[in-house]
Amino acid sequence: MGNESDMDRRKFMEVGIYAITGAITVVSGVALTGFAVGPSFRKEKVKWIEVELDEAGESNPGFSRVVLEYEKKDGWLTASAKSLVYVKRVKEDEVIAISAACTHLGCIVTWKEDQNIFQCPCHDGRYDADGRVISGPPPRPLRRHKTKIEDGRILLATETVPYGGDTHERA
Ligand code: FES
Repeated sequence: MGNESDMDRRKFMEVGIYAITGAITVVSGVALTGFAVGPSFRKEKVKWIEVELDEAGESNPGFSRVVLEYEKKDGWLTASAKSLVYVKRVKEDEVIAISAACTHLGCIVTWKEDQNIFQCPCHDGRYDADGRVISGPPPRPLRRHKTKIEDGRILLATETVPYGGDTHERA
């Protein structure tokens, strides 16, 4: 009887020790994994880049072509990146910034002033002046860069949002 109770206690202690050891292993595994792969999941901070426009007016009723150049972090890697953006002032304190990357396979679209469209040279995808698809294979409208105006300076975010997303950054 006493032996049986000793055995039960020993078994209970063994199971408890295994459970605690297992829990410690899982916790340290999660911590180490987070340390190792964390940077690749950490969201990079949005970068804002000041741009100058050849202001839309009589001589330029369309878009200004702007090239954003910046460093892009992808996990542990840092690479230089360039994005072509079509920017237009629509109000005194508001600009729109349309990404030139075609939503089909990423070719660079061209603004055709005479036809009032963006045209993709790769598969003839066409978008209206707002970036919405008119014809061809593009599955979605052109993306937009976030914008803000601070003390008269025009700033564009390096990140883009889908058409219809919130692009106007408020102070
Ligand atoms: S990449 Fe633009 S239409 Fe195919």
